[in-house]
Amino acid sequence: MQTESASSPEKQLFDLTNKVAIITGASKGIGEDIARLYARFGAKVVVSSRKQDACDALASDIRAQGGDATGIAAHVGDMEQLKQLVDKTIEVYGGIDILVNNAASNPVFGPALDCDGGAFDKIMQANVKAPFELSKLVYPSMKARGGGSVIMMSSIAGHTPDPGLGIYSVSKASLNMLTKVLAKEWGPDGIRVNAICPGLIKTKFSQALWQNDQILSHFTDRLPIARMGTTDEVSPLALFLASSASSYCTGSLFYVDGGTVI
Ligand SMILES: NC(=O)c1ccc[n+]([C@@H]2O[C@H](COP(=O)([O-])OP(=O)(O)OC[C@H]3O[C@@H](n4cnc5c(N)ncnc54)[C@H](OP(=O)(O)O)[C@@H]3O)[C@@H](O)[C@H]2O)c1
Repeated sequence: MQTESASSPEKQLFDLTNKVAIITGASKGIGEDIARLYARFGAKVVVSSRKQDACDALASDIRAQGGDATGIAAHVGDMEQLKQLVDKTIEVYGGIDILVNNAASNPVFGPALDCDGGAFDKIMQANVKAPFELSKLVYPSMKARGGGSVIMMSSIAGHTPDPGLGIYSVSKASLNMLTKVLAKEWGPDGIRVNAICPGLIKTKFSQALWQNDQILSHFTDRLPIARMGTTDEVSPLALFLASSASSYCTGSLFYVDGGTVI
């Protein structure tokens, strides 16, 4: 892998050399792109998702290209697995500087009325409680290292409810407030907390929205940039927020959405 951590001051702004990053939901989609980009900028990357073989495959590909990566599986709904994710990361790399809470769940598509209590709990567990618990688990290590960056993968759905995504929208709005709460409380420890709010990005997660031309047009036709986005249009923002380039940013929501929320 050709690393981007060259010596010019501009490139140093985004340099992640010797930084340790945990990325949940990293085996594919937006998380995979962030893992690959972080590794290219010198980070030691922990690739996490539910499936160990998928994590290992990406970590091995990153290593084959000259980066440093380790696969550690964890279901974000399982507190014990989250603890193991943090413990193993510290065992392998000695600490944590960057956490990207990227994994999320949306088991229902339809009116909020059709979302039963079980589905509601599952969405809130994966999209709000897990980022909260994992952020708390990495906090001691970040604090001991003099600071860090926590990045929440939110959504434009947390800003404006979209049809069919009601309780998912509720979860992402909650995640936005969690971002602000932790940013305020952890700022004095040098830990910055920000959220990325993507619009429609072409991944497996959003397939229900883009595989149907009519639904896709509903989402994209009204946009100033009238198309869906790609994962490599989101990852540079995650690089900015992980690096010293964003040293004065905390508690903010950053939109990468083709102008959806204007
Ligand atoms: N795509 C969009 O249009 C869009 C828009 C706005 C926001 N977002 C947000 O972006 C994030 C990533 O979405 P994506 O589109 O990149 O999804 P994706 O391509 O479907 O990838 C999801 C990733 O999360 C992992 N995952 C799923 N459930 C998990 C769980 N319970 N515990 C741990 N890992 C889990 C998956 O791997 P395994 O199956 O191996 O677990 C996979 O690596 C989500 O927070 C989503 O809400 C996406």
